[in-house]
Amino acid sequence: MHVTFRQLKVFQAVARRGSFTAAAGELHLTQPAVSMQIRQLETNIGLSLFEHLGKKIYLTEAGEELYDYSRRIAQLVDEAGEVLEQLKGAQRGQLAISVASTANHFATRLLAGFTVRYPGVSFSLDVTNRETLLQQLKHNERDLVIMGKPPPNEELLAQPFLDNPLVVIAPPEHPLTHHRRIPLKRLAQESFVVREPGSGTRGAAERFFARFELQFTPGMEMSSNEAIKHAVEAGLGLAVVSAHTLEVELAARRLRILDVKGFPIKRHWYVVQRADKRLSPVAQAFRSFVLEEAQGYVVPLDALTPPPAVGPRGATGTEGP
Ligand code: PGA
Repeated sequence: MHVTFRQLKVFQAVARRGSFTAAAGELHLTQPAVSMQIRQLETNIGLSLFEHLGKKIYLTEAGEELYDYSRRIAQLVDEAGEVLEQLKGAQRGQLAISVASTANHFATRLLAGFTVRYPGVSFSLDVTNRETLLQQLKHNERDLVIMGKPPPNEELLAQPFLDNPLVVIAPPEHPLTHHRRIPLKRLAQESFVVREPGSGTRGAAERFFARFELQFTPGMEMSSNEAIKHAVEAGLGLAVVSAHTLEVELAARRLRILDVKGFPIKRHWYVVQRADKRLSPVAQAFRSFVLEEAQGYVVPLDALTPPPAVGPRGATGTEGP
């Protein structure tokens, strides 16, 4: 079928107004020009679109069908225009992002993926702990933040986008690697290498042990996941870390995930902004990218290890999204 978009627009105006003259007025054309467009359209499709009864015109069955399609086509063209305009806005610009240290493992890959799609965008990326991220949001210092669940606060808009399972790690030669469904109580006898106060991971692990009235014994304290993994590898203790930080060490068999009852602790990643912040087109594009695509940038826990055992009644590690 050979039909031009212009013919469809003229046809739509005539059908909507029920008059060639009114359509001509709307489109700033002469009435004969409108009649000619409609005649050409009818010739092209081989069907009459209007019937003339007295002074009035009515759509034929073919006209009704084409009117329905032409409205949908026009809507789609408008929609495409809007999307492309937004993209134009997101083609260039600067983005100030902060991510929790633990999220950095996938966040940098996510930024790389975003940059391929939007090469004109430049980033400033800050990698820091949860407490500092909350301060940055409070002082409106960043466009968007990727972190664990923020505390309830009307000034923040937080959207979960990805699971963040926390697991217990040990060096491969540790005797507990041969045990299944290790009770939490047994684990509490071990010494742990922990993150600094203010770390979301540390807070979640402490709350988890406290829920079962167990004390978890912090041994050494370190301010990065990398340092913690090295310390555990070196036999300085066990640790609770996000599975998202372990891809390399598990593949190289430098660390093992212990099968502990109630683990993994289920945390979630959120993309967070101040509720009163008007996001730039670039920031909006990045937020949508995170919400829609982040899943593809992490290796799921069950692909890293055999599925963990289910915890006992009342001992699920869920923190809730
Ligand atoms: P963290 O944050 O890097 O501060 O531990 C991660 C989280 O909140 O789970």
